[in-house]
Amino acid sequence: MPLPTPVPAERVEELCKKYGTPLQLYDGDAMRANARELIGSFGKAFPGFKQFFAVKALPNPAVLRLLIHEGCGLDCSSTSELHIAKELGVLGEDVMFTSNFTSEEDLGIAFDQGVVINLDDVTSVDNMVRARGRCPDLISFRLNPGVGRTDSETKSNVLGGTDSKFGVPPFQIVEAYRKAKENGSKRFGIHMMTGSCVLSDDYWIDAVSELLNAVKTIRQELGIDFEFVNLGGGIGVPYHPDEPRVQVDVLAEKLRCKFETFFAGDACKGMPKPRVCMENGRYMTGPFGWLVSRCKATKDTYAKFYGLDACMANLMRPGMYESYHHITVNGADKDAVQEKAHVVGTLCENNDWFAKDRILPKAKKGDLFVIHDTGAHAHSMGFQYNGKLRAPEVILTNSGTKDFLVRDRENIEQLYSNTHHSAELLQSMTGAEAHGEKRVMEATEDKENKKSCVA
Ligand SMILES: Cc1ncc(COP(=O)(O)O)c(C=O)c1O
Repeated sequence: MPLPTPVPAERVEELCKKYGTPLQLYDGDAMRANARELIGSFGKAFPGFKQFFAVKALPNPAVLRLLIHEGCGLDCSSTSELHIAKELGVLGEDVMFTSNFTSEEDLGIAFDQGVVINLDDVTSVDNMVRARGRCPDLISFRLNPGVGRTDSETKSNVLGGTDSKFGVPPFQIVEAYRKAKENGSKRFGIHMMTGSCVLSDDYWIDAVSELLNAVKTIRQELGIDFEFVNLGGGIGVPYHPDEPRVQVDVLAEKLRCKFETFFAGDACKGMPKPRVCMENGRYMTGPFGWLVSRCKATKDTYAKFYGLDACMANLMRPGMYESYHHITVNGADKDAVQEKAHVVGTLCENNDWFAKDRILPKAKKGDLFVIHDTGAHAHSMGFQYNGKLRAPEVILTNSGTKDFLVRDRENIEQLYSNTHHSAELLQSMTGAEAHGEKRVMEATEDKENKKSCVA
């Protein structure tokens, strides 16, 4: 069941007056309590457990600091994310670098930063050697065990299996570790990430079985002892009202039993039990974010439409994946008349919608709509089509009584600050004085004009 906003409707309205709309809100208290619960449950089942937060889910440094404080490491998928980790003082083996089709340059940067590199293919070993002359002491590979799953509408969230571009298949995994060993690696981990938004405990058991089979085979072939197994991220959240929350203590206990049985057998006799890690993103922050947007126009045509001042640039999951996000009308009376409507944004794209044929309390222009579960893979996926500006991010703490602006609203200057339109460009093509271009330059210098655009 999606969570209600952590503060009453009047406070939501007050925050929107203060920061404007659309506005991305987070509940810092709930994120913290949730991190404690997950780390506590898995830590009990697996001593030394480490959760690496998947930065891509919510790369706001303030949120990252909060999770780091609770004991999380960082899972980075790009050198920009490695940069954030470094800026925040998260170093060495507290950082996992898991990318795919990675360039030699990026592998070199990760090597120099001393983070745990998780290679995605056997040929990445050659790239690593070309980049820095050898593989790092500690190396890991992302296994694609041939299975994958999601319990969301987003079928591209299936990240394992034969249709996936990620990871090393079981039939190449021994060769991958052999090459890494030959090129200097002495310490080893193994990783998988086979699906995002997984709500089924049974699937975890199946996928982990495949991972442990690979551990067994690699050890038998190469005599490798694994220091860690990283089960990846992917624990799902209940986007739909009828979906239950994953019980992480129950899941951790089931996985503990699976590991116990495996290590009690002869398969890995003499091998010290590896540390267990995960790299959840969505589960850590997803339910604790709300995108709040004002209805700016309504329309009764072939259907009833509510047009919000947020758009797909603020939350692309519904438009891109047809994902369900729960929507409420701020402060709507529970006895309000309900009707079917589409909730859409202002983008010139016909997939710019947040809900189709959704039963909602009857609303009007000026009402605030709350889109739930936007704490992960939401703001971070924003883009600038139609010159749309990304919303500010605000963290609520102390039961919502305090609010901290942790990212400003993007502005028009930022949108154009990396563009160039010199007079020489048109002149080089036409030989003529470029009047139109001059006008553009004059217009951008017109402060009043800028202000009215921002508003
Ligand atoms: C390698 C890797 N790890 C972790 C994650 C986080 O997944 P989730 O947010 O579903 O936990 C992703 C998501 O795409 C990923 O690609």
